[in-house]
Amino acid sequence: LETDRLILRDWKDEDVESYSQMNLDPDVMRFFPSTVPAERSKQYLVKTRQSFYDLGYGQWAVELRETGQFIGLIGFARADFKAGFTPCIEIAWRLHKDFWNRGYATEGAQACLDYGFQVLNLDVVHSFTAILNVPSQRVMEKIGLGFVGRFKHPALPKKHPLKPHVRYKLKKRQYLSRNI
Ligand SMILES: CC(C)(COP(=O)(O)OP(=O)(O)OC[C@H]1O[C@@H](n2cnc3c(N)ncnc32)[C@H](O)[C@@H]1OP(=O)(O)O)[C@@H](O)C(=O)NCCC(=O)NCCS
Repeated sequence: LETDRLILRDWKDEDVESYSQMNLDPDVMRFFPSTVPAERSKQYLVKTRQSFYDLGYGQWAVELRETGQFIGLIGFARADFKAGFTPCIEIAWRLHKDFWNRGYATEGAQACLDYGFQVLNLDVVHSFTAILNVPSQRVMEKIGLGFVGRFKHPALPKKHPLKPHVRYKLKKRQYLSRNI
C-alpha cells in the first residue's frame, strides 16, 4: 500500500535488526508488559509473515517513501485472547520513536482501513489499547474508529497498571457512509 509519505510492504530479511531494536526500546514498549528479547522478535516476524498466507492479512513493514528507511509496522492481526468480542480482527501499529508525532501512524492506518474494507471486505475492524496509551487512542479516533467501552485485558495480572483497556471499532457500513 502506498500513501503520500509511506510504503506499507512485505517484510524483508534486512528489517529484522531494526524491528528487534524497536521491540527492545522501553519507550516504544511502555504500554506493553515488557520489551521483547531479540530472539522472540525473530519468531514474531516469522508468524507475522506467515499470517498473510494463513489469514490473507497481517501487519506490514512500513518504510518512508523518501528515504526507504524502515520505521515500524502497521496492519491487521487476529485477536484471540478470551473476551466477549474475540476472536476478531484488530488494526495495530508500532513505530520507532524517532518517527512519532508526524502523523505517520494515522496515514498508514487509514490506508490499511481502506484496504481492509475495500479489498479484504472486512465487516468490522477493532482496535484495543491500554487506557494509559493516549497516543494510540488518538490514532484510533483520527481514522474514524468509535469508542465501544472499557475492558480488563485477560492476559495481564490483576492490578497491573496496563490491565484496564479500551476498545474501539468501525463497521464497514459506517466506513462506507463516511466515505461516500
Ligand atoms: C501509537 C503510535 C504508533 C502513534 O504513532 P504516531 O505516528 O506518533 O501517531 P500520529 O502522529 O498519527 O498521532 C499521534 C497522536 O497522539 C498525540 N500524542 C502523542 N503523545 C501524546 C501524549 N503523551 N499525550 C496525549 N497525546 C499524545 C499526538 O499529539 C497525535 O494526536 P494529534 O494529531 O491529535 O495531535 C506511536 O506512539 C507508537 O509507536 N507507540 C508505541 C507502540 C504502541 O503503543 N503501539 C500501540 C499499541 S496498541
